Amino acid sequence: MRIAVLISGKGSNLQALIDQADQAQYEIGLVLSNRPHAEGLQKAKKAGIPTAILDHAQFDSREAFDTAMIQIIDSHKIEAVILAGFMRILTPIFTDHFLGRMLNIHPSLLPKYPGLNTHQRALEAHDKEHGLSIHFVTSELDGGPVILQAKIAITQDDTIDSLQKKVQVQEHIAYPLVTNWLASGDLMFKNNQVWYKNTPL
Ligand code: GRF
Repeated sequence: MRIAVLISGKGSNLQALIDQADQAQYEIGLVLSNRPHAEGLQKAKKAGIPTAILDHAQFDSREAFDTAMIQIIDSHKIEAVILAGFMRILTPIFTDHFLGRMLNIHPSLLPKYPGLNTHQRALEAHDKEHGLSIHFVTSELDGGPVILQAKIAITQDDTIDSLQKKVQVQEHIAYPLVTNWLASGDLMFKNNQVWYKNTPL
């Protein structure tokens, strides 16, 4: 399955997807960034993957930006979209177009802490555990049905930085795995629900 990976920054999840691609049923046909200087673009170029930059600041509205993204992605014959640190809110134009074939990874145990600053919020709430969620993307921000979560324990010495590092270790294992489930057809989105091997979760 040909996938596009959408990034805004470092691209460590993109790198994990690149590293696993040889053993997987997905092929990264495009890396698209809304930030011209996103570090992840270099990772894509090094791996010989086509890149596209679409600077959101050049568009009058979110809808115009999303429409332009759809055109680029579709022109690369992409079947699924993998959001990997893509820091733009998407409109229904985009989420409806890729409904059931777009995944996001979010650094919290959803439905806890949608949005930003998740590590800080988990620390401030004195949570004992934290983690990541991978979900299908719907029009609701960080609100689509969850496919998989990985948990980490929060200890007394944890900081925002240490939590981010621990969560990312898990992200780099989980995201290629779940992306491959989608690529292989094991993972599906039907009736607003997650299905794995023909069984609803
Ligand atoms: C990840 O922690 C992911 O959960 C969040 O954004 C971060 C992206 O990191 N959505 P990277 O650019 O993949 O290193």
